[in-house]
Amino acid sequence: MHFMVRSARPGISLVPDLRKAVESVNAAQPIHDAQSMRDVIGGSLSLERVSSLLTGFFALAALLMATLGVYGVVAYSANCTHALCPVTGWKAERQLLWCPCHNSEFDPRNGADVVFGPAPRPLPALPLKITGDALTAAGTFLGRVGHTT
Ligand code: FES
Repeated sequence: MHFMVRSARPGISLVPDLRKAVESVNAAQPIHDAQSMRDVIGGSLSLERVSSLLTGFFALAALLMATLGVYGVVAYSANCTHALCPVTGWKAERQLLWCPCHNSEFDPRNGADVVFGPAPRPLPALPLKITGDALTAAGTFLGRVGHTT
């Protein structure tokens, strides 16, 4: 059972008087967990507060990284590192980029690393950033574009 008491006095100073008042009605009734309304409300919202702070922190971190082009969005060269064929395929079931010339496969979730085929190295990444409302290049390709020779 919960009781709420409103008073101009500080909450903790009310406890002895409340205890006496309750004992006058029922001496066996204990009083425990006396808290101010501020503490009750603060405790009930603590999970939401932490969740909100974490969401805000990660949103700011993502915005900062995207703005700086650090660990943000990247594009990959579509020139295969094997023999310069265009990497035009997408294997949706495995989430891989695919070069149809000699079946090289690249994992865009892992730096476009080669996971199958004769391609000797990953597709070079182009870091991107948000400039106003546009997505623009944040630098040059990270790695040499084209085939190995
Ligand atoms: S050119 Fe892409 S696998 Fe050979």
